[in-house]
Amino acid sequence: MAGVSVQAFRRQGRRYGAGLVCSEMVSCAGIEHGNERTLGYLRVAADEHPLAIQLFGSEPRTLANAAKLVEAVGADIVDLNFGCPVRKVTRTGAGATLLEDPVLACSIVESVAAAVDLPVTVKLRRGLANGSRSCLELGPSLVEAGAASLTLHPRSAQQMYTGTADHALTAELVSLVDVPVVASGDVTSRARAQAVLATTRAEAVMVGRGAQGNPWALEEIVDGESTAPSREEVAAELVLFIHKVVRELGDRRDSSFMKKFYGWYLGQGRFPKPFKQELVLLESTEEVERRLLAAAPGALEILERLEAEVPSGDEVTLELPIAVYGGG
Ligand SMILES: Cc1cc2nc3c(=O)[nH]c(=O)nc-3n(C[C@H](O)[C@H](O)[C@H](O)COP(=O)(O)O)c2cc1C
Repeated sequence: MAGVSVQAFRRQGRRYGAGLVCSEMVSCAGIEHGNERTLGYLRVAADEHPLAIQLFGSEPRTLANAAKLVEAVGADIVDLNFGCPVRKVTRTGAGATLLEDPVLACSIVESVAAAVDLPVTVKLRRGLANGSRSCLELGPSLVEAGAASLTLHPRSAQQMYTGTADHALTAELVSLVDVPVVASGDVTSRARAQAVLATTRAEAVMVGRGAQGNPWALEEIVDGESTAPSREEVAAELVLFIHKVVRELGDRRDSSFMKKFYGWYLGQGRFPKPFKQELVLLESTEEVERRLLAAAPGALEILERLEAEVPSGDEVTLELPIAVYGGG
């Protein structure tokens, strides 16, 4: 998820049981131009494998070159974004626009699959307009072009995130292709995951928003363990996440990046609403950390245990100056 699935989020997801994690979408044009921030998305930690890095773009050669870099940094899968509904992306012919441009979409998959030895996978929406079934025509062609797996988020681009994901369409796609299909959309609990897997016969479910500020949902989906985390556990996990984000993004970008996470972690009745609002107004993540540890004093002990347990995450990095990675 763009703006969310930073390395800290992915490593947390792996710790709580995710079988595979994926990067934010990365612009192949940004890679081509050596854009610092874009290259920063290509850091891979030892403890986040298996990892997919997702690329977006509309030019087969540029995507193929970007995919070679994804392979070089040690990702396990190159994923292609054929689903992003945001105008900034679709007006360049990338993202969801490719759902209605099968010739270009297949040529991208062919070109990327020829450039790397890694599996090349594709993430789709159902189509551009509400009710569209484009994914059912495009999916099999993408497999013929070399896609090793498809992930379907069965909403239209027009829908953005409204309404519900129509997994009847996922079931249809599964019946049409002989590669694994991953079902994405509205999976937030084990019961829902089981229902989607049973009714679609998909190989796996992908969890997006359900894991935002709630890694415990992953644990529940994977193990069926459903004890709600204590206030102390939530505060400790959030502070650990802050530490990892500061390390990853540096202390200039961390504060604004983190703000959306406070509501996600502290909501669901875990902390009073005014407390969340207070944190969002604070200028530095150090101050947020101080307030969290004061509000849940037992969190410090849990945090120290987590800090000791969590692998250091030695990274495979490109031969580029450290500034390019946006932090230490
Ligand atoms: C903030 C946000 C950013 C997203 N960014 C991406 C992205 O970069 N690439 C992608 O394939 N899907 C992206 N998605 C879509 C999710 O991967 C997923 O398909 C969708 O949210 C439905 O699943 P969910 O109900 O589990 O969240 C994003 C979703 C959200 C909410």
